[in-house]
Amino acid sequence: MPVTSGPTPLIIDCDTGIDDGLALLYACASPGAEIVAVTCTAGNVDARQVAQNTRAVLELAGRTDVEVALGREVPLARELITTPETHGPLGIGWAELPPTSMPLSARHSADLIVEEARRRPGGITLVTLGPLTNVALAVLREPELPRLLGRLVIMGGAYRVPGNTTPVSEWNIHVDPEAAQVVFRAWMSAIGRDASVPRALALGLDVTERARLLPGHLAALGRRAGTDGAALEARVRSAEGPAPANPVLRYLADSLRFYMEFHAKADGFYGAFIHDPLVVAVALDETLARATPVAVDVEVAGEVAAGQTVADWRGLWQRSPNADVAAEVDAGAFLDRLVDRLGGLAARAAGVAS
Ligand code: RIB
Ligand code: CA
Repeated sequence: MPVTSGPTPLIIDCDTGIDDGLALLYACASPGAEIVAVTCTAGNVDARQVAQNTRAVLELAGRTDVEVALGREVPLARELITTPETHGPLGIGWAELPPTSMPLSARHSADLIVEEARRRPGGITLVTLGPLTNVALAVLREPELPRLLGRLVIMGGAYRVPGNTTPVSEWNIHVDPEAAQVVFRAWMSAIGRDASVPRALALGLDVTERARLLPGHLAALGRRAGTDGAALEARVRSAEGPAPANPVLRYLADSLRFYMEFHAKADGFYGAFIHDPLVVAVALDETLARATPVAVDVEVAGEVAAGQTVADWRGLWQRSPNADVAAEVDAGAFLDRLVDRLGGLAARAAGVAS
């Protein structure tokens, strides 16, 4: 991770989705983040819907200045699968957002990533919150990308825990395993050529499923925003709850209500694993997590294990570690920061001193 005193320059690659939207708002609300650009990849919903959602969420946060790019719209070698049951048919749950006024960048996502990395060698942290399709294209176009980036931070994989899409694969890897294999192997090659190249920081379900957002967090967030926290909690629990006047709070409650309903059915608790904002928080402050260097590769040919992230914990492959795989995270500190920062963002959106 580059040692800098100023804000961390971020390129965020996402498949906006509900937790991606939270991650974008968290980045917008973090003074330590300089959002260089956002690149969109198909995953939770199709790529053009991702681009629509991404721009609409940034506009909600008042960040119409951010460049948003589209890239390849389907995985490298497979049919696209999406997950409307998790994020809703449009990827924002029960929320509704006005059509965006922001233009799409003229640049392809892969070109944007390469060009910005070349422009600021060692300076940019690339945070991926969705399938690795465009990152794979970027590193195929520029094999030196691992050396040109300050850090690659990946939300993806399941290293010592079960998958959430198959018994062994996590969604972002599962959608495009070939892309994930290209990325992990490119980092392996680059580190083999130059040991000073930073390893990828990989945050899998091992840690992201510890970031459980509960209705009580929405109550605290509503109070932080200067509103009735109980009303916001009521809204995230039921559509019968009062509709917040604050557009940020209404988006949060209505998108998260869908996500929490999904988790109640799929995971047995009324709340949400908020994978993506946790990863942005760690990218901005790596002290929130503890990670172990390990060689990681991705299964692509498996009949039952395609998309599995395989970590060589015993060093049997005798390959240099290409990843720092997170094993621990301070989820409590993260959730406190999320409540404070999103609550403050909402307050500012309503013109309330925060
Ligand atoms: O497995 C969780 C990941 O898949 C998150 O990034 C979520 O947004 C989905 O993309
Ligand atoms: Ca995502």
